[in-house]
Amino acid sequence: MRDLRNIVEQMSIKDKMAEITQLCGSGYGEDENVFMGIDYQFELAQHMVDNVGSVLGISGAGRVKAIQKKHLETSAHKIPLLFMHDIIHGYKTIFPSPLAMSCTWQPGLVKVSAEIAAKEAAVSGLHLTFSPMCDLARDARWGRVVETSGEDVYLNALYAKAYVEGYQGNDVSSRYKIASCLKHFAAYGIAEGGRDYHTTEASEYSLREYHFPAYKAAVDAGAKMVMTSFNALNGIPSTGNQWLFQDVLRKEWGFAGTVISDCTAIVELIHHGFAADEAEAAKKAIDAGVDIEMVSNTYYNHVQRLIENGKLTEAQIDEAVYRVLVMKEELGLFDNPYKDADEGLEKQYVLCDSHRQAAREIARESMVLLKNDGVLPLEKNAEKIALLGPFADSRQMLDSWSVCGEEKDCITLKEAFLEKTDIKCVSAPGIMKYEETRIEEAVKLAESSDVIILALGEDPLMSGESNSRMDIALPGYQELFAERIFSLGKSVIVVLYNGRPLAIPNIAKKASAVLEAWFPGTEGNRAVCDVLLGDHSPGGRLTMSFPYAVGQCPIYYDRYSSGRPAKDVYHSDRFSLRYMDGQSVPLYPFGYGLTYTQFKYGDVILSKHLMKKNETIMASCVIKNVGERQGTETVQLYLRDMAGSLVRPIRMLKGFERVTLKEGEEREVRFMIGEEMLKFHTLETGFAAEQGKFRVYIARDASVEEYAEFEFFY
Ligand code: GLC
Repeated sequence: MRDLRNIVEQMSIKDKMAEITQLCGSGYGEDENVFMGIDYQFELAQHMVDNVGSVLGISGAGRVKAIQKKHLETSAHKIPLLFMHDIIHGYKTIFPSPLAMSCTWQPGLVKVSAEIAAKEAAVSGLHLTFSPMCDLARDARWGRVVETSGEDVYLNALYAKAYVEGYQGNDVSSRYKIASCLKHFAAYGIAEGGRDYHTTEASEYSLREYHFPAYKAAVDAGAKMVMTSFNALNGIPSTGNQWLFQDVLRKEWGFAGTVISDCTAIVELIHHGFAADEAEAAKKAIDAGVDIEMVSNTYYNHVQRLIENGKLTEAQIDEAVYRVLVMKEELGLFDNPYKDADEGLEKQYVLCDSHRQAAREIARESMVLLKNDGVLPLEKNAEKIALLGPFADSRQMLDSWSVCGEEKDCITLKEAFLEKTDIKCVSAPGIMKYEETRIEEAVKLAESSDVIILALGEDPLMSGESNSRMDIALPGYQELFAERIFSLGKSVIVVLYNGRPLAIPNIAKKASAVLEAWFPGTEGNRAVCDVLLGDHSPGGRLTMSFPYAVGQCPIYYDRYSSGRPAKDVYHSDRFSLRYMDGQSVPLYPFGYGLTYTQFKYGDVILSKHLMKKNETIMASCVIKNVGERQGTETVQLYLRDMAGSLVRPIRMLKGFERVTLKEGEEREVRFMIGEEMLKFHTLETGFAAEQGKFRVYIARDASVEEYAEFEFFY
C-alpha cells in the first residue's frame, strides 16, 4: 500500500477541497444534469475541474480513458479520477427493477444481476455504482419504491448483501468488479405522505428494528461507500446528522469507508432550514463525516475559510481526503487509472447474448401471477390474440433509473409474441391521450379475437425519484378502457407494467388473469411471453403489499397490533382497527403469488412447545402439489412474539424455502427456530429475546392465520 498519508501532506488545502468534491457531466461539457434534478449552476473553477476527486454520470471506455488521461496530465498530484454512476439494476443490459427482482425471493439471482452489471460497467470505464438502495419501502405513493427490495426487513437485508457481493466480489480491484455505495442512509423510505424528499420521523426502536438492518447488511458485506439521504430524520437532515454517521455508522458499525452526500444534498441543508448559508452547510456536513460533496461546491468554496476561522480543522479534511484515496487504492487506480476500461471488451460484453439470457431468466422469476381463473397458460394453438392498451406495442420496459439502458434494445409485447409463436396477433393502444375513437378500434379487435390481453400500467416516469403519486390507480383512462373491454363478457388477461403496487380492485375482480410484470427490463417482453405461454411457470411472490385504495397507505404486513384489533376483514366490530368505508387488509398481501399449479399446506408441527435459552425448535409442514403441473412454491416462515417490553409486529418473516414439486408430489419443509430469531431491541436488556409465547406460521403469504405455538423461557 503506497503512503497515502504522504500524498495528503503534499496537497494544498485547495487541492484537498477539490479531491473531496464530485463533479457531474456538466463539468466535462456534457449537459447530462437532467436526470439528477440539478437546478443549480455552479461556477466551475479551472483548478477545481483539474483536481476534482471523482465524476458522476460519465461512462464509455473511450470517454472515460480520454478524461482520465487529461486529468492525470493536469492534476497537481496525479491522483486518478474515480468514475461513479447509478448502475441500479444493470448497465446496458437492464434487469427488472429492484422491486421486481425482490419478488424472485432469490438473492442469488440478484447477485448474478449485480455481477453482470459490474462487468458491463467496468469495461465501460466505471469504478463504483450507487447501489444497493437499502431503504425499506413503506408507502406505494413514494415513487422510489421501484428501487427498493420491498417492505420486509429480513429480505431487504439479504438483497443488500447480495448486491454488494455481486458488484465487489472478494476483491474490488479485480477484473470486472466495481465498488458498491449503499444508500440512502437513513430511513428515506418513510417520507411523510409518500412524498419524495419530505421529512421523516422514526423512533430509535423503529430505526433499529425495521430500517437499519439492510444498511448494516451492506456495510457488513463490505460496501466501500455510503450515501446520505435527502430527508430530515427526526428534525436533523441525514447529510448533517452526526448521530447517524459518526455514532451509528462509524463507531457502532465500524464502517471505515467513504461517505458521499446525495446530489446537492449539502447545499440543500439551507433549504431544510438546518444551515444559514453555504459555509454552515459545509461545516455541518464535514462535522457529520460526509467525505465527498456530490455536485454542489460548498466544500470547495468555504472549507479554507472555515479552517481559518477555527470552525473546522484541517485534520478533519485530511481524514476525508485520506478515505477517498484509500478507496482509489483499493480499486487499484493508482497502479492502473484505467482499470477495466476497454473498448474491445465493451463491444464483447455489453448486451451480449448471455447477459440478455440472464436478464430474461430473472425477469421471468420476477413476475407475480396475481389472479388466474385457468385461462393461463395460453393455448399455443390460439387462433388470434388481441393485444390492447398502452403497453401492447411499447418498448417502455425500463424504469426511470435505467440511466445507461436504452428502450431501442427492448422488444414490444407484440414483437415478442410474433417472434415466439405463429399465433396471429393484432394490437391497438386503445387509449391515446383520451381519444375515445381508439377505444372502439380496440373493442373491434377484442370482439374478433379468442384471446384478449390488456397491457396496462404506468409511464416509467411515474415512479422513481421525485415521482410520487397521490393516487395509485391505473393512470389516465385505463380503468375506463378496461371496463369497456370487460363489458364484452369475454375472458380478459391483464399484464401490468408499473413501478409500484397499484390500487386495482376492479381489475382484480373482473379480469380472468392478472400478471404483474413490473418494469421487466431489456428482455422483459420475451419473459412475459414465456410466462403467458407456459414455457415458464410464474413463481414470483409480492414483497410489497398491494392496497385496495391509496387511503390504506402506508400498508405493510409486519405492522404492530392495536388495543382493538379488527376481528375480521369485514370490520364487523365497529370499535376496532378498521376503515368504515373499506377493507383494512391489502388487496394482495406480502408474500402472495400464484403458480400454474396449486399447493396444499398441512398443519404446522413443532418438535416441542417449550424452548429454553440456547435451545432450538424444529417447525415443519407438509406441502403437497395438488395441481396438474410441476410448480415452485415459496414456503414462508413467520413468527409472532405475543407480548414484549415493547409492542411487536403481528408477523415477522424469519425464513423461506423455495420447493419445486411435481404434480401429486409432497414434501416436508422444515425450519429450525433458534433464540436469535426471537431477539429484538428491548427496552431494558438491549438486543435480546424475552420470555413468553410465540406463534409459528408456515405459510404461502403473510395473511395466513393457521399457526402453532411455543413458549420461550429461561
Ligand atoms: C440522485 C439520487 C441518488 C443517486 C444520485 C446520483 O438524486 O437520490 O439515488 O444515486 O442522485 O445520481
